[in-house]
Amino acid sequence: MKENPLIIGIETSCDETALALIQNGKILVSLVSSQVKDHAKFGGVIPEIAARKHLEVISHLYEDLLLQAGVKESDIDFITVTQGPGLVGALLVGNLFAKGLAANLRIPLLPVNHVHAHVHGALLSLEEGKKNEDIFPCLSLVVSGGHTNLFYMKSPIHFELVSQSLDDACGECFDKVGKMLGLPYPGGPIIEKTARKGDPTKFPMPKMMTKTKTLDFSYSGLKTHLYYLLKEQETPLSEETLANICASFQDNAFEQLVRRLKQACNLFPEVKSILIAGGVAANLRFRELLSKDLKIPAIFPALLYCSDNAAMVAAYGEAIYKAKGEAGLKQDLSFESYSRYHELPEGGL
Ligand code: KG4
Ligand code: ZN
Repeated sequence: MKENPLIIGIETSCDETALALIQNGKILVSLVSSQVKDHAKFGGVIPEIAARKHLEVISHLYEDLLLQAGVKESDIDFITVTQGPGLVGALLVGNLFAKGLAANLRIPLLPVNHVHAHVHGALLSLEEGKKNEDIFPCLSLVVSGGHTNLFYMKSPIHFELVSQSLDDACGECFDKVGKMLGLPYPGGPIIEKTARKGDPTKFPMPKMMTKTKTLDFSYSGLKTHLYYLLKEQETPLSEETLANICASFQDNAFEQLVRRLKQACNLFPEVKSILIAGGVAANLRFRELLSKDLKIPAIFPALLYCSDNAAMVAAYGEAIYKAKGEAGLKQDLSFESYSRYHELPEGGL
């Protein structure tokens, strides 16, 4: 294989169909077809609809990708695809598309973990000239709709799970609280926008997970607190009250993340940086609170690489190839999609 192979990334773990091409650290094209509008009327993602929508668009998106990049399919050297975790029906569409492509083009296929791939969304946004030695060892925090996972990393492909949410993910909590407030799905972006006009001190909320010895996270208590708080309010909420509740909730949700990162920095004093990734990393208030409170530099993805995309999947594939060469790529197409993080296959990436 070439020293700098042309790699296609494929992502269908939830409600975004995404394809991207990367070569030598440069994203040639990254396309995302979002289904948010199809699920918004239900207030959350409907797995069956997600799978069917992926099937509808993936071939067209592939043709657009080649056209926009100005490459032929025979130029592609290998494929990286999200194997899991995610919605199994949705993953199956991307995994089967990838397997078909690999068989047809006779090229290797590399199945990867979606949560780990998110971290490469942040690594894609590094300042030019930054080397691995400047970044690693590091901590990485993936905060998305499905996960709140903290990792210790010695290299771009080494992930040691330090802690995770015991119940709801942070983004999931934003979505559920958004629904309680009568806001459209997904809750995260609209809560952030509404909170800009609010005062985060107006509705003090209890700090979560202050007594635990581990660095685990929890968001179901905060969700329940909001449920009872809303029962006490006059409805419909005034614009001012809505903004104040959003601002207070948002700051409380982020206080837990910032506190855990500070504790983790004390536990691992050798870390040189903190990578933040996942949909919630797009939140500007979160970025502001983190940069104010952390001594170690936090690296965030560019906004377009926070939520689900295939550039991060392709970039992760490239990092694995750089570290392991052709031996790191699978020739066996019999792998299975999986739904949960702890089902990550042994030796899986
Ligand atoms: O990474 P992502 O696209 O999908 C998963 O892998 O889950 O993350 C989606 C999650 C949703 O819960 C959404 O509400 C949240 O990220 N999110 C935000 C913001 N933008 C997206 N949460 C807070 N503030 C935002 N600006
Ligand atoms: Zn994701």
